[in-house]
Amino acid sequence: MYGLLRNLLFRLPPERAHNVALGSLDVAQKLGILNTFTRQPEPCPVNVMGLEFPNPVGLAAGLDKNADHIDALGALGFGFIEVGTVTPLAQPGNPKPRMFRLPEHQAIINRMGFNNEGLEHLITNVRHRRYRGVLGINVGKNKDTPNEQSEQDYRKGIAAVYPYADYITVNVSSPNTPGLRDLQFGDSLKQLLHAIKEEQAACEQKHGRYVPVAVKIAPDMDEQGIRFVAAALLEAGLDGVIATNTTISREAVKGHAHEQEAGGLSGAPVREASVKVIQGLYAELGDRLPIIGVGGITDGDSAADKIRAGAKLVQIYTGFIYRGPSLINEAVEAIRKEIS
Ligand SMILES: Cc1cc2nc3c(=O)[nH]c(=O)nc-3n(C[C@H](O)[C@H](O)[C@H](O)COP(=O)(O)O)c2cc1C
Repeated sequence: MYGLLRNLLFRLPPERAHNVALGSLDVAQKLGILNTFTRQPEPCPVNVMGLEFPNPVGLAAGLDKNADHIDALGALGFGFIEVGTVTPLAQPGNPKPRMFRLPEHQAIINRMGFNNEGLEHLITNVRHRRYRGVLGINVGKNKDTPNEQSEQDYRKGIAAVYPYADYITVNVSSPNTPGLRDLQFGDSLKQLLHAIKEEQAACEQKHGRYVPVAVKIAPDMDEQGIRFVAAALLEAGLDGVIATNTTISREAVKGHAHEQEAGGLSGAPVREASVKVIQGLYAELGDRLPIIGVGGITDGDSAADKIRAGAKLVQIYTGFIYRGPSLINEAVEAIRKEIS
């Protein structure tokens, strides 16, 4: 069924297809016919970051940047949904076209550049949602905010979404906001983590509830970089790490017509690099700090691979575009076998 729909959608330019697909999903959900097309996964509960997840397969950030479609996406059987990246102020992102399909590789290149409607819009949506499952909110910084002041944007984001999120993700790994990924290294990272923990403590005090915060990192990191991040996260007392975002490497898609497009590459070509980062993190962290594995999950085996590498939860984006909702079930079943 999804195969047919996908053939139609793939005739449209990628961003248009994205909007049409999400709009149709909303309609199907409102008409109450969504469950005709999807099969809910059997429960596979896991407890991570102090939260109870009905199953370990979540939707990765970036598909529903403004939380406009939570209810429809939440009805598909995901164990959790992550919305955003949201920046304090609305911003248009990069000029179009900025999303490219590489079907031969089950991949996407995107340079969206955090196009989003800002915190206020997202929070209004989140407040009015019907979805009662686990909700992560992913926060970033505005393009015009200089890196030295990025801390303020992250603080604003955390403070604003804190009352509504089950967990918060701090995104320092998008390749499409100039300089953002520098925040993953050295003193910049340590300072940022310190600020995050300070803001989280202030919010906990204010709202009387502890909301875990995870940091999302890039796959383009060497062993030393991974060890540094792991140590810094532990030292600062973060609650989780999401590995990984898209890659700037084009090694796996050499010779493709879109190879030279700037942006982050996702889907099957990022799978191996993501697993390596997860393995490296797990070697340092063990079970002291949970890893959420994301990057190139396109079937059950690649989902189970993330768990074997040390992840406690997984997320999908590009695989979901290529395979549709049946991938959720397939991933849940493969992980169930792996952990039982
Ligand atoms: C079009 C597109 C937009 C994305 N936007 C975001 C974003 O706003 N924030 C974020 O943290 N990750 C974003 N991502 C990265 C995904 O959440 C995920 O980490 C990455 O694509 C690897 O997973 P995948 O291979 O399953 O797609 C985006 C990915 C794609 C393809």
